[in-house]
Amino acid sequence: MASKLAVSRTVGPVYLFLLLIVAAFLPSPTLSSDSDPLQDFCVADMKGKPSVNGFPCKPATQVTSDDFFFSGFTKEGNTNNRFGSNVTAGNVLAFPALNTLGLSMNRVDFAPGGINPPHSHPRATEAGVVVKGKLLVGFVTTENVFHSKVLTVGEMFVIPRGLVHFQRNVGKGKALALTTFNSQLPGAVLLPNTLFASTPTIPNQVLTKAFQVEEDIINKLKIKLS
Ligand SMILES: *[C@@H]1O[C@H](CO)[C@@H](O)[C@H](O)[C@H]1NC(C)=O
Repeated sequence: MASKLAVSRTVGPVYLFLLLIVAAFLPSPTLSSDSDPLQDFCVADMKGKPSVNGFPCKPATQVTSDDFFFSGFTKEGNTNNRFGSNVTAGNVLAFPALNTLGLSMNRVDFAPGGINPPHSHPRATEAGVVVKGKLLVGFVTTENVFHSKVLTVGEMFVIPRGLVHFQRNVGKGKALALTTFNSQLPGAVLLPNTLFASTPTIPNQVLTKAFQVEEDIINKLKIKLS
C-alpha cells in the first residue's frame, strides 16, 4: 500500500502534465453565439477604445437606468427607397447596454410590395415575428433548398445562422416585423450591394462568368445599385 502510494505520488504530476499537453492540442469547443458575459452587465463605453471583441464597459458608477431602455423602435422607418423597406437596428451600436449580452433586435418596416432583399447574418441566427401585415419569408439552405411561407400577424419564423434569406410584403397595406438575433452585432451581407456595389467593385470578368451574362447587364446592375 505504502509503495503504491509512493509510485502514484511520483507518476501523478507527470501524468497530469501529459494530460495538460494533450488537452492543449484538442480543438476547443466553439460557441454558436456571442460568448457569455462575465458580469451582470457591461454597458458599452462607446468612446472607449474597442477591445479584442465588443466594447469596453462604461464604469458601473456612470451607468444609469436609462442605459437599459431603448426607444429606437417607436418610430416607423422611412420605406421610400429602392427596396421599399427599412431596417431599424437595435444592436450594440444603437443600444450599448446589449454589449456582452449576446442578443439584439431589429424593427423592419415594409411598404406595400417592399422587400428586405436577399441577405445573410454572418454572426447570428435570426428569429422574427410579424407584427403587422403579411410577409413572404424565405431562406435557402447550403444544399440549395428553398424554404418559404407567407406569415400573418403573430406568426414567427427562424433563419438559421448565416443562410441567405429575404422577406417580401405580400399584403395590401404596410407590414412590420420585429426580429431578434443571438448576437449583439449580427452583421448583414446584403447580396445586391455586396456583389454589385462594393468599394472598389468586383471585376466584371468575375461577375459575368459567375452569373453567365454579358458585361452590359453587370454594368447596369452596378449603376443601379451604386
Ligand atoms: C430608414 O428610416 C430612417 C428614419 O426615417 C431614415 O433616417 C433612413 O434614411 C431610412 N433608411 C433607408 C435605407 O431608407
